[in-house]
Order: sequence, then C-alpha cells, then structure tokens
Amino acid sequence: MNLEEDLTLPPRQAIDWVDGKVRFIDQRLLPAKLKIVETDDWHVIARAIKGLSLRGAPLIGVAAALGVAVTAVKYRNSRLQKKLLSAIDGLYATRPTAANLFWALDRMKEIVVQTPDDEDLVEAVVKEALDILEDDRRRCLAIGEAGNALISETARILTICNTGFLATGGEGTALSVVYRAHEAGKGVHVWICETRPLLQGARLTAWELKNAGISFTLLVDSAAAGLIAAGKVDICIIGADRIAKNGDTANKIGSYPLALACRMHNIPFYVAAPESTIDRECPDGSKIIIEERSPDEVTGFGSKKVAPDDTPAWNPAFDVVPADYITGIITENGVLEAPYMFE
Ligand code: MRU
Repeated sequence: MNLEEDLTLPPRQAIDWVDGKVRFIDQRLLPAKLKIVETDDWHVIARAIKGLSLRGAPLIGVAAALGVAVTAVKYRNSRLQKKLLSAIDGLYATRPTAANLFWALDRMKEIVVQTPDDEDLVEAVVKEALDILEDDRRRCLAIGEAGNALISETARILTICNTGFLATGGEGTALSVVYRAHEAGKGVHVWICETRPLLQGARLTAWELKNAGISFTLLVDSAAAGLIAAGKVDICIIGADRIAKNGDTANKIGSYPLALACRMHNIPFYVAAPESTIDRECPDGSKIIIEERSPDEVTGFGSKKVAPDDTPAWNPAFDVVPADYITGIITENGVLEAPYMFE
C-alpha cells in the first residue's frame, strides 16, 4: 500500500500537524498532481522550503516552526536542546527574504533556550509551533475581513504570485480578501499575473481560484501595465515577504512594476500581510536581503531550456515597492495608511 496516497488535509489548508508529524502539499507538483507529504524530519521541511514545495512568507514561518516541533517529538529523550538549536539553525538558512521565517524561528528559539531540557521542553515547543499555526489562521481571516471593506461589488482585482491558502497557515493574505469578498456575494474578477519564472500565479493562484469557483483571467506579467492603462483594473492587492519599518515592501519579482503602473494611472495599490511580516529592525527597503535564485530558472521554461548554452541570467526572487507607492497595508489589525512608521 502506498501510504502517501492515503494522506489528506482539510480543504483550503496547505499544512497541518497530525499525530506528531507535519503534513503538507508539495507545491512544486501543482496543478498537475496534488501530493501530500508527511514527515517527522526537519531536513525534509528545510529542503521543501528551499525547493519551493513549501513557499509563501507566512507558510514558510509556520512550516519552520512545525519542523522544530517534529524534532522535539522525535528526539524527546536525547539531549533535545542541542538538536532543536541545530534544527533552528538549519531552518534559518533556507531562504533569506521572508521575515516570517525568522520571526517564527526566533519565537521557537526563545522557548528552547528558556525551558529546561526535559519532558516539559517537548510540550512547550509543540505548543508554541501550534500557536504559530493557529495564530496565522486567525490573522488570515482578519486580513480578509479588513480587506473586504475595500472591495466594490464588481471589483476587478489585479494580483501577482500566490497569496492564498498555499502561501499561509490559513486561507491567505491578498487572496483571503478575494475569498471573503466572494463569500459576501460580490462578483469579483481576479487578474492573475503568471509570475515568471516559477509561475506561482499560473500554477497555484489559478488552481486555488478555479477550485473556489471565483472568476479569473491569467496574463503574462508584462501585460499588466497595459491592462491597467486600459482601465481594466479597479484595485491591485499583493502579498509581502518583508515589510521594512518605513513601509517599503519586498514581494515577488514584478510587484514594483505593478506599483509604478498603478501610480501612473491612479489605481489603488494595497499590500496584504500579517504583522509577522513586518521587520521593525529593518529601516527601509534598501536593507532587505533579496534572494537570488539559479539562472536556470530564467534560461529555461519549466524543464525546457530556451536560451543558448551558458547564457548569463539575473534572477532575483523579489523586488521592493517603496512605501510611497502603497495606498495601504491590510493587516489583521485593520488597514494601515502612510506614513508607515512601525515601532
Ligand atoms: O518565492 P515565493 O513563492 O515564496 O514568493 C511568495 C511571494 O512573493 C508572496 O507574494 C508572499 O510571500 C506573500 S504570501 C501570502
């Protein structure tokens, strides 16, 4: 019997904690295959984060916290503190930009160093990780509700990348706004940027919205400015990987051009993110570390090579939208407006 085929997750959930193990969707395979992985090994989770099987800033944070928790359950009687600290170090090193990863791991580390190295430590670590998961679910719902107030009955919403349940512990950030608006009976239509090079928009957001019965159209990233200029977008909402103290926001590559075009054509441009994405230690966008990924992702399309051999390519995973271009930041605590000065 292939056990993997029997694994399930509740609807609109990318990750869960089941009997001391972590279950998650392997997002690299979507939409062709819905494969659910179960593991009690933090290395598997670290590899999944690095390889984008687990992705999206809030989800990366939740997954890392659960990776520490499985380690606690697995090694409960054997010099646990040391093992947990080494798991935390390994998970820190997976991806550099998403603030939620460091936020969640810092929370886990504090518990590990403050709790005696015995049975209490297992319980404390598991509780903290499950709190992070539950907390993210609540934040996603609150973001959706706060953002829904900005959405008109027939809004045409432009977005990029995937910010839905596949990107969080709950139902998403920018897409949670879409879900709440749809549930409220609004006839929203979503324009999805395909999100080159890894196609999170085409593969993941289109899959989520199709399953939810929400109207959408896919476009290549470079078509977005023309779409905005043609008056076909009422509001743009993106997610965030890291928000600096002054509101400058790093998000998926291609977000900055959307903000420029929205500014040019007076279209409201919103960021939707939980407060766990805000990095209060980071003064502005110039200090955000932007992950650079393999040139192969640009010189090829999926597994097919498209550029000549040895073509050099620049492949930043994110860009930074200056705070000035952001109409508001939709958080679990309401919609914040400029000037942003996160204390
Ligand atoms: O490289 P990814 O797929 O992890 O990038 C994800 C994004 O840029 C999302 O927009 C961001 O993490 C917000 S997810 C709610």
